[in-house]
Amino acid sequence: MVSADFDSLPTFGRSLIKVENVEEIIKRELQEVPERYVRHDEQIPSIPHDQSDSKQNVPIIDMGKIAQAHHREEEIKKIAQACDEWGFFQVVNHGIPHSLIDRVKRIGKEFFQLPLEKKQRYSVRPGNLQGYGQTFVVSESQKLDWGNLLGLIMSPPECRDMNLWPTEPADFRENVDAYNSEIKRLAGQLLALIAESLQLPADYFEKKFSNAYQKMRMNYYPPCLRPDLVLGLSAHADQVALALLLQDDEVPGLQIHKDNQWKTVQSIPNALVINIGNVIEVMTNGRYKSVVHRAITNKEKARLSIGVFYAPGFTQEISPAPELIDDNHPCLFRKFIHQDYMQDYYSRGNSLGAKAKSSFYEYARIKK
Ligand code: OGA
Ligand code: NI
Repeated sequence: MVSADFDSLPTFGRSLIKVENVEEIIKRELQEVPERYVRHDEQIPSIPHDQSDSKQNVPIIDMGKIAQAHHREEEIKKIAQACDEWGFFQVVNHGIPHSLIDRVKRIGKEFFQLPLEKKQRYSVRPGNLQGYGQTFVVSESQKLDWGNLLGLIMSPPECRDMNLWPTEPADFRENVDAYNSEIKRLAGQLLALIAESLQLPADYFEKKFSNAYQKMRMNYYPPCLRPDLVLGLSAHADQVALALLLQDDEVPGLQIHKDNQWKTVQSIPNALVINIGNVIEVMTNGRYKSVVHRAITNKEKARLSIGVFYAPGFTQEISPAPELIDDNHPCLFRKFIHQDYMQDYYSRGNSLGAKAKSSFYEYARIKK
C-alpha cells in the first residue's frame, strides 16, 4: 500500500463546521424540515413534470456507434452539439460492465446504511478533501444540503488515503478500484472525442493528463418529507475537466440550469451522465462551457449517485488551446497552474448557488 506523506501534498481544504447528519435527522421523524435546510428565492427546487419530450432531454451518445466507421462522424457531431448546447450528455454502450456498475451502486448504498459510528471512522478531517461528510459547510448561516457524501481521491496514487477507504462492505475497495480504472479509460476516450469534435488532434487533451487527478464522490440523499423545500446538492459548476456520474436507476434528481429553467436529467439504467467542467471551458477557450447543476431529493426514496471527477495533474499548466484563438475568438482565459486554481476554489467556499460560476470567472477570465 502507498504510505502517503500527506504533509508534502497540496492541501485544499479548510475547517468544516460540524452539522447534524441528515441520515440521523430523518430518524427523528420530524413533522417539519429544519429551517437551515429550507431554500428561498432562486434556490427553490422545481419538481419535475413531463419528461416525454426528447428535445428537453440531455443528448444520448452511443459509444458503440463511435466504434463503427459509418456512424462515427455523426456521433462526434452529436457530442459537439451536446457540449455546445447543454454542457452535458449521457453515454451508453460505454464498455463498463453492468455487473460492476450494479456492485458499485450496491456497496455505495450499503455504506451509507451503516450505523453512524461506523461511517464516522471515515469522517472528513479539517484541511482534508477526502472522507465521509457534508459538502462545503463554511459558515453558521449557510443553508445546508439534504445529503451526505463520501469522497475519495483515486489518483495521483500518493494521494490515496487508504485509512479513509471503507472496509465495510467487505468488497468496497476492490469494486471501487475496478470501477475507477474503467472510468479513467472512458474519460481518456471521451477527451479524445471532445478534442476531435473541435477539430483538435485526438491527443490534444490527453497530453495534459499524464498525472491526472481523479476523485470519486458518492452522494447519498435520504428521503425528505418536503422535496419542494430543500436541495440535495446546491447549484454548482464542477471545477474539474470532466465529471462522469452514475445516477440512481429509480430516482432521478440531477437538474441542469438551461434556458433559465431547471431541467431534470432522465435516469437511464447503466448510462453515465458526462459534463464539461471549468478546466475544459478554459482549455477550449470557452467554446464548451461548464453548466450549473444541482440535485433535488425525493419524498419516498433515498437516492444514491456516484460521481467521478477527472482533471489534469496538480502542476499542469492550464490555458486555452491556441488553435481555438483567432480574431473572432479572442483569448478569454489566462494561464494558471491547476493546483493554484484548486486552492482558490476550495478556499472561497462560496462557489455555490448564484455565485457558482462568477468566482471561477473572477479567477480565470482575462479582465477587459
Ligand atoms: C456532483 C453532482 C449530482 C447528483 O456530485 O458534482 O453534480 O445528481 N452530483 O448527485
Ligand atoms: Ni456536479
